Amino acid sequence: MCGIFGCVLKEGKAAPLIHAALKKLEYRGYDSVGEATLFNGVMYIKKDQGKIDEVHRELNLDDMEGSIGIGHTRWATHGAPYKVNAHPHTDCANRIAVVHNGIVENFLEIRKELEALGHEFRSKTDTEVIPHLIEENMKKGMNLIEAVHETLKTIRGSYAIAVLSVFEPNTIICARNESPLIIGVSEEGTYCASDIPAFLPLTNKAVILENGEIAIIKSDKYEIWTIEDWKPVKREPEVIKWTAEMAEKQGYPHFMIKEIYEQPRCLRDTLRLQDLYLDLMATFLDRAGEVFLVAAGTSYHACLAASYMFSDLAFLATHPVISSEFIEQEGMAVNINSTILAVSQSGETTDTLAAVDYARNRAATILGLTNVVGSSLTRVSRVYIVQQSGPEIGVAATKTFTSQLSVLAQLALRVAKIRGKIGHRQIEELEEKIRQMPDIVEKTIKKNDPVAREVAKEFRDKQVFFFLGRGISSATAQEARLKLMEIAYVPSIAYPAGESKHGPISLIEPGFPVVFICPKDETRKTIIGNIMEMKARGATIISVIEEGDEEIKSLSDKYFEVAGSLPEMLTPIAFITPLQLLAYYMAVEKGLNPDKPRNLAKSVTVK
Ligand code: M6R
Repeated sequence: MCGIFGCVLKEGKAAPLIHAALKKLEYRGYDSVGEATLFNGVMYIKKDQGKIDEVHRELNLDDMEGSIGIGHTRWATHGAPYKVNAHPHTDCANRIAVVHNGIVENFLEIRKELEALGHEFRSKTDTEVIPHLIEENMKKGMNLIEAVHETLKTIRGSYAIAVLSVFEPNTIICARNESPLIIGVSEEGTYCASDIPAFLPLTNKAVILENGEIAIIKSDKYEIWTIEDWKPVKREPEVIKWTAEMAEKQGYPHFMIKEIYEQPRCLRDTLRLQDLYLDLMATFLDRAGEVFLVAAGTSYHACLAASYMFSDLAFLATHPVISSEFIEQEGMAVNINSTILAVSQSGETTDTLAAVDYARNRAATILGLTNVVGSSLTRVSRVYIVQQSGPEIGVAATKTFTSQLSVLAQLALRVAKIRGKIGHRQIEELEEKIRQMPDIVEKTIKKNDPVAREVAKEFRDKQVFFFLGRGISSATAQEARLKLMEIAYVPSIAYPAGESKHGPISLIEPGFPVVFICPKDETRKTIIGNIMEMKARGATIISVIEEGDEEIKSLSDKYFEVAGSLPEMLTPIAFITPLQLLAYYMAVEKGLNPDKPRNLAKSVTVK
């Protein structure tokens, strides 16, 4: 996730407006920043790695001539956060500048073709293929707009782009596919931005660009066309009634709920990972003597779920270990044949880095899964994968958890393929289901939002909750418990359901809320037995079930329905979402701020 902005003014300097707008978009990414303006037919560019304020102190982002320009605040996806990878990116002759939010899936092949034609690339980004492709199309005789249009037909993936060029000095061309882009309209000029807060101080009149649309903006007008067949689109501006604070959260009251709703988009982005890195990591895992999955908190729960995936799909035994326990628990067993897959959304968790450091000193192979390119974890990993969730502001991990699960499921499947452990048909079915996950999660969240509100209202004064699941759902239960505990301060317990009768069941008395995670998998029959045990002792049953599971519905006092039927290994991705909502609404019911739970930091950098 990055933030882009463009403005075409009737008069005055664009640079200070771009700078101010990028500050409003900083929540979308903050590892590098850049601006380009045009003045008297010359393109001016300033960019560097670092936060906007730091770069502004060094370069003075306001001091650029021209009343037209574009800007970008970056959250690295391809290429570390270095100056050379900061946007805008340009063509060979520096006459076309592009800012981009999204992922160009086929950039490697396009880059190869363009390099063969003599194009010189300066960065490691996927974005840079865009200005070079536009340049190449113009060489074939197209004008700038035609060349941009043709380029959009060539690239695959997600994008919101803004293009500035000396060839059309009074125009910005922007386009959207799966990354947001909004046009702002005022008396003084026209703007385009990833998000409304960027131009809200300038205008509250907004035109939302839809997927597959291109817009040509000038200081006094905008035109919208469809990319596929170049048909004009008539769309009038809407008046936005949000305050600046509301707009930053896209109208949601908290970042946590916004991030819960972002999960379908994040899951879509996990489907765009480069095969190269997934295959490489899968090869390392396949060849490892033993594999330790090392992480803290929510990332540890992703590892716990992954241990079921690796075992079930790839017949690969892995050891999920809480990072702060790793050295004591497994330390002496680590050697040159060990592989550590460290999972950390921030890539900066001290306990996880300490475990990695220890294992490196014992010559183990380090693999990393993180959300932050350039984080410490990426620097010490032999191979790392970036999970593409975009910045997570709420302290509670939500979208980063489901993205981690999606990446880990894809990895497990690749190891399974290498090992020839599951059949062709099963692989295809799983791949198809992984592709369907974003839609299933989207429907599940929408459907369960009102249910979660209602359950939270009814149960807000409960002193304790019990979460139970079997198989991979025991990881879902652990994560659901952590969410409720850390956000709503409800002390909660989670167990594999079979273990509950070895002690915890003694807690049950009439009205005790027990949450069962019940996918329609091999564990279902046994879990029904566990539900009956709890009911017999007067527990109140809240279940998360597959849509239409009438039997468990009839045993439950409340239920959340997941929209679709899933193979067991993918269930945590969808089954956790109603319970994220429950934790969120419990916190809201209790008057707590879910984004900033007491005593917790987003990134835990102490031992
Ligand atoms: O950045 P990491 O994934 O390494 O963070 C690990 C934990 O600190 C984190 O998951 C924490 O438990 C969150 N509060 C969970 O919501």
